[in-house]
Amino acid sequence: MTHILVLHGPNLNLLGQREPDTYGRVTLSEINAQLQHEAKELSLCLEILQSNHEGVLVDAIQAALGQQQGILINAAAYTHTSVALRDAIAAVALPTVEVHLSNIYKREEFRHHSWIAPVVIGQISGFGANSYRLGLRALADYLSS
Ligand code: DQA
Repeated sequence: MTHILVLHGPNLNLLGQREPDTYGRVTLSEINAQLQHEAKELSLCLEILQSNHEGVLVDAIQAALGQQQGILINAAAYTHTSVALRDAIAAVALPTVEVHLSNIYKREEFRHHSWIAPVVIGQISGFGANSYRLGLRALADYLSS
């Protein structure tokens, strides 16, 4: 069984009520349920964590070493600020896919830069909740090839 760590960054616990015109009305627990459904089909075992704290996310990435085969991450605002998350992903060297609900390149300029993009396999941005499902599929394909 392939084990995947799914990380959701700050404010994603408010999905459903948070800026619905930008992020949609799907809640985080609905996204997690969709991911679990997808994981079953792909024979993946998911460990899912949401945190508003950068260090908690860094700890989770470090703890994935030797336990998980890949990481699916929406680092949310930390995407645009966190060298620590980027360094953690680089340090564990686990195949990682970056996802965003919104298309970050269509939005304010400060969202156009991702600190983690250079250390991930690839990025899926702009498909709403579907970005997660597509990202999980992309990661599963990568790991099985
Ligand atoms: C986001 C985009 C980020 O710019 C923002 O800070 C988020 C969510 C997205 O999924 O579209 O919190 O990562």
